[in-house]
Amino acid sequence: MSEKLWIFDTTLRDGEQVPGCQLNTQEKIVVAKALEALGVDIIEAGFPISSPGDFNSVVEISKAVSNPIICALSRAVEKDIEVAAAALKYAKKGRIHTGIGVSPYHIQYKLRSTPENIIERGVRAVKFAKRFVEDVEFYAEDAGRAELPFLAKIIEEAIKAGATVVNIPDTTGYCLPEQYGAIIRYLKENVSNIDKAIISTHCHNDLGMATANTISGIQNGARQAELTINGIGERAGNTSLEEVVMAIKCHQSIPVHTDIQTELIYGTSRLISKLMNMPVQPNKAIVGRNAFAHSSGIHQDGVLKHRENYEIIDPKEVGVHESSIVLTARSGRAALKHHLDSLGVVLEGEDLNKVYEDFLLLADSKRDIGPKDLLELVGKYMDESSF
Ligand code: KIV
Ligand code: ZN
Repeated sequence: MSEKLWIFDTTLRDGEQVPGCQLNTQEKIVVAKALEALGVDIIEAGFPISSPGDFNSVVEISKAVSNPIICALSRAVEKDIEVAAAALKYAKKGRIHTGIGVSPYHIQYKLRSTPENIIERGVRAVKFAKRFVEDVEFYAEDAGRAELPFLAKIIEEAIKAGATVVNIPDTTGYCLPEQYGAIIRYLKENVSNIDKAIISTHCHNDLGMATANTISGIQNGARQAELTINGIGERAGNTSLEEVVMAIKCHQSIPVHTDIQTELIYGTSRLISKLMNMPVQPNKAIVGRNAFAHSSGIHQDGVLKHRENYEIIDPKEVGVHESSIVLTARSGRAALKHHLDSLGVVLEGEDLNKVYEDFLLLADSKRDIGPKDLLELVGKYMDESSF
């Protein structure tokens, strides 16, 4: 059996930060329950110091959900940590996620500090959080642009202070997969106590690399991945949960498994999209409207002969009822026949050719061709011929 990858869902924290995506507490509870059913291991429920509403949501989610660990975010600030701990009061398993910026940009321009002081503040925060919970995750913000010896040093000190998970965010989505994987490998090789903590990936999608970077992190030793449903999140978003989970399921060379109930993925994606008022782009991997739709003649013919000619995932595995053969002006006879068959109209040879000619004329001028259009075409042909 391969090692387990811990699935840390941050839809309700990093995802919910997106303008227009805000949810009320009741809606967040619905999402948290859906995430629990989906099988995520950790739900990052919010950033309690940020607002009374967020605090309350973490409290109510903690009461409503039993299996996943409930995580609350805080900066490396005592007040934040105290408030996060208070919000986790009802969590059956609570985790505080605290940390600080570690790149030269963050140290110099955001925190106006020094590397030594950053380590001190990070360590103090972890030790303080340990007073409230056993499970403390340390994030090294902007690790993707950090100097590696410094990153290794602060991670080593955070683990010494009691961090059970160390999060290595590519906060700005800057890294290439090779680079991000090399950061994780560097930590595995240069942090003496690294085996005492789980390494977590947390990637953003500014260059469209979030999933690839996350997979690269896992291949190099990370055993927790921070993800959001539909990849929602700041700017270009976070790593999408469905992409990572299905990449792992499709590729046995990735040496981990997850406990995600993949057949609930599509429903969960729809729920988040609806509640957050955030449409999913049609060509989005796994959950987009076209993810299992075939529209060109060559592909349609191939997929009708054998699904796996053009599909690497059985749509049922992610909760999509079936793939679709979309009728367009690029469709071939096989697709037309498939649709006519499903309407109970069986045409072959010259009859099919004739209807196909009329179909192409119609498809050039009309976007959506449905059963009514097809029946009209067949009816017209029957009237005109001795059929
Ligand atoms: O992207 C990031 O660095 C974060 C941290 C707060 C974990 O979201
Ligand atoms: Zn983030």
